[in-house]
Amino acid sequence: MIRFLVPLMVLLAACTTPVRDDAREGTGPITFVDGRDTTADGRVRELVDRWNAQASRRQQVVFVEMPTSTDAHRAQLTARAQDLAGGRGSPDCYDVMAVDMVWTAPFAAAGHLEPLDPAEFDVGRMLPKMVRAAKSPDGRQLWAIPWRGDAGLLYYRKDVLEAEGVEPPKTWNEMRQQAITIARRRGLHGYVGQFRRYEGLIVNMAEAVWAHGGDLERLDAPETKAGVRAVVDGFAEGWIPREARDYDEQASLEAFRSGGALFLRNWPYAGPVLDTPGSQVIDKWGVVALPWPSALGGWNLAVSRCSANQKTARAFIQFLTRDDNQRRMEQLAGWAPTSEALYEEPNLVPRPLRDSLLDARVRRPSPHYDELTGVMQESLHHVLENPGSVDQSLEQLADDLARAAQGR
Ligand code: GLC
Repeated sequence: MIRFLVPLMVLLAACTTPVRDDAREGTGPITFVDGRDTTADGRVRELVDRWNAQASRRQQVVFVEMPTSTDAHRAQLTARAQDLAGGRGSPDCYDVMAVDMVWTAPFAAAGHLEPLDPAEFDVGRMLPKMVRAAKSPDGRQLWAIPWRGDAGLLYYRKDVLEAEGVEPPKTWNEMRQQAITIARRRGLHGYVGQFRRYEGLIVNMAEAVWAHGGDLERLDAPETKAGVRAVVDGFAEGWIPREARDYDEQASLEAFRSGGALFLRNWPYAGPVLDTPGSQVIDKWGVVALPWPSALGGWNLAVSRCSANQKTARAFIQFLTRDDNQRRMEQLAGWAPTSEALYEEPNLVPRPLRDSLLDARVRRPSPHYDELTGVMQESLHHVLENPGSVDQSLEQLADDLARAAQGR
């Protein structure tokens, strides 16, 4: 028996434990790239500074910030594809990259990422659905380490709803009613979210569709069409302002922060930003979990294939994802931790975030995710511009998606 088991165990281990290449096992300076630090008071930069203060002079980290929108961030990384996939030790290498969970599979498929050993990062302590999204589709290879989760929250004007004597909405329809009646009376926009043509649009449309019992995976279901139509109607009825067709996270946050909207759908980082100087809504806002299912978002940390200093790169990722640093980022920046134990700590993760994140639904990971989402973004934005085209556009989209799923 043992004679069979040993080779089998070796084989299994070979599937999951990356083989180390000594030429890349260096320690030395590294570059870390993330989206623009949009946290209140620049907490990502502070975290990098804290690493640099305790690391040796040889292992300093240079922090490079990409644009805020996830698509622009990805485009800048893929423009470096050749550096990422080869040219080891190239001065242009980004050693550690923060990668949106949905781009992790395409980046891995393109050969940009170094496989990682789960034990080295203790990923067993992390939320399983986030770990799954950081692995290859067959679950064998780990490509990145979940750093922060994201789940949609509904921010609202507490001062206004209290003055009106109403509770925050519990359904899409209640939200719509309040957005039409109360917001109009108060001279506010009803609801702002992310409807620009980029990944945020997919998130917002998926959520509206889930709110109506549909799913973007079932485009011909009446519930799915109802969900898409609900957004289209929101624009037509005017409680979602026209400008929101061009809003990403930052623009929608600003619309609410400057006191112009009753409701805002955004991620957890927005809360602390609403209390920073210049905000018109300090002490005037409240937050609840999205009254309908949220899309699961989040960012993973990956080591680029081009990195010559992978030992340092991995130690830096260990540092960023340590429970104490995740706890700190939750307290200071509102980030959702990926470590499960932190959700059990009393008074750490606020209830709305906990509820929203633990129930959040994944966007299906795929090595062809960029093709799939590109097709969906085009079609769904077209629908917003052409309200009469819902049925026809969704039918066309179903055909286009079937092709894109094959990477064609
Ligand atoms: C947030 C989420 C990410 C999502 C993006 C959409 O950054 O973490 O997963 O794709 O928003 O704009």
